[in-house]
Amino acid sequence: MAGNRTFTMIKPEAVASGNAGRILDAIMAGGFKVVALKLTRLSREEAGAFYEVHKERPFYGELVDYMASGPIMAAILEGNDAVASFRVLIGATDPTQAAEGTIRKRFAESKAKNAVHGSDSDENAAIEGAFFFSVREQHA
Ligand code: RTP
Ligand code: MG
Repeated sequence: MAGNRTFTMIKPEAVASGNAGRILDAIMAGGFKVVALKLTRLSREEAGAFYEVHKERPFYGELVDYMASGPIMAAILEGNDAVASFRVLIGATDPTQAAEGTIRKRFAESKAKNAVHGSDSDENAAIEGAFFFSVREQHA
C-alpha cells in the first residue's frame, strides 16, 4: 500500500532567492499537510551521504557542493499516495521537461539547481524524515 508521507527539501538556491514561502504555499495548495518543518543547513558530509546513491555520477561533486552551499528548508508532508503525488506536483528533474504549473517549472533555475527535493520511495521518505526530525518535531 502506498504511504501517506513524503520528505522534501527546498534547495539552497530557492531559499536564497526568497522563494521558500511561495514554494510552501504551492505545496499546501497542492493538497499536502506540513507535519514537520525547519530551516537548516547540510554539511558537505551530510549532503554527500544524502545523495550517496549518485556517487558514481558525473554531477555528484557539483551536487554535494550545491546542496551544502546555503540553508535549506526541510519538511515532512502528509497526503494521499504522498511520494508519487508529490513527485507529480514538483515535476521532472529538468525544469525544461517539467509540466506547466509544476513547482520545478515555476521555480527551478536548472536541472542541477531545481528548487526542491522529493523522496523516491516510502522507505527513503521515512529515512530522510528521521534524519532531520525527532519524533517530537513531527506533528501528525
Ligand atoms: P531529487 O532526488 O533531488 O528529488 O531529484 P530527482 O529524484 O528528480 O533526481 P535525481 O536523479 O535523484 O537527482 C538528484 C539531484 O541531482 C541533481 N542533478 N543534476 N547536472 C545534472 O545532470 C543533474 N542531474 C541530476 C539535481 O539537483 C537532482 O535533483
Ligand atoms: Mg532523487
